[in-house]
Amino acid sequence: SKVITMETVESTNDFAKQIARDEQDGTIVISEEQTRGKGRRGRFFYSGSKEGIYISFILKPQIEPSKASFLTSIAAAALAKTLDELNVEVGIKWPNDVLIDGKKICGILTEMSADVESVEYIILGMGINIKGESFPKEIKDIATSLKIQGYNIGRLELLWRFLPIFEELYLSFVDGDKSEILKILKEYSCILGKEIYIHYQDKVEKGKAIDITKDGTLLVEFENKEVKELNSGEISI
Ligand code: BTN
Repeated sequence: SKVITMETVESTNDFAKQIARDEQDGTIVISEEQTRGKGRRGRFFYSGSKEGIYISFILKPQIEPSKASFLTSIAAAALAKTLDELNVEVGIKWPNDVLIDGKKICGILTEMSADVESVEYIILGMGINIKGESFPKEIKDIATSLKIQGYNIGRLELLWRFLPIFEELYLSFVDGDKSEILKILKEYSCILGKEIYIHYQDKVEKGKAIDITKDGTLLVEFENKEVKELNSGEISI
């Protein structure tokens, strides 16, 4: 598939969005740095030059728009598997945080253009922290890099290992088979069976993560024994 590379850009997600209509499923946009990297909830994503992999995939799967958020989990699963193959000790915090030593090694931002029944395109952006040695103080307690964790892995090496794993999982999902993805999400989960804090509707509640369902949702048991299925949400450990 087509790969568009650049030295610098404001945001690979925004760039990808501008060209998405004319490009095919699987087109990749990658940059050495971003000057306005975007995080979730309007946050800024620190993207120092040559410190990480800043990549956006233009995806055009024929799926229901409501299923699109699962792509984020696929990316997390693919990265966890890739890092495990490089002997990195890695965990996944549902739905899509990839953690080393409890800190985020990667951020994933999925943006979609769709109408009620079909997806026009999805931009799946990932920022993987590799060579960075320090982070801005607002995030230094929650973010880490492979370098900081003592892993000396090249950006290209990681990318070339990641791409085929992501492709295989993505194609299996498009074909309707999520089994391998769910297996990875469970195997590397750092919350299953544990007490967690669930942040939702401006509240924080304590509960236990019981299972990841075949739809990718999280089953939690609250302290009053009530069991709920979460589609999305922020979890802390
Ligand atoms: C988050 O953790 O809040 C998500 C961060 C997503 C960052 C990636 S880097 C490549 C792509 N381009 C962007 O502007 N953001 C995503």
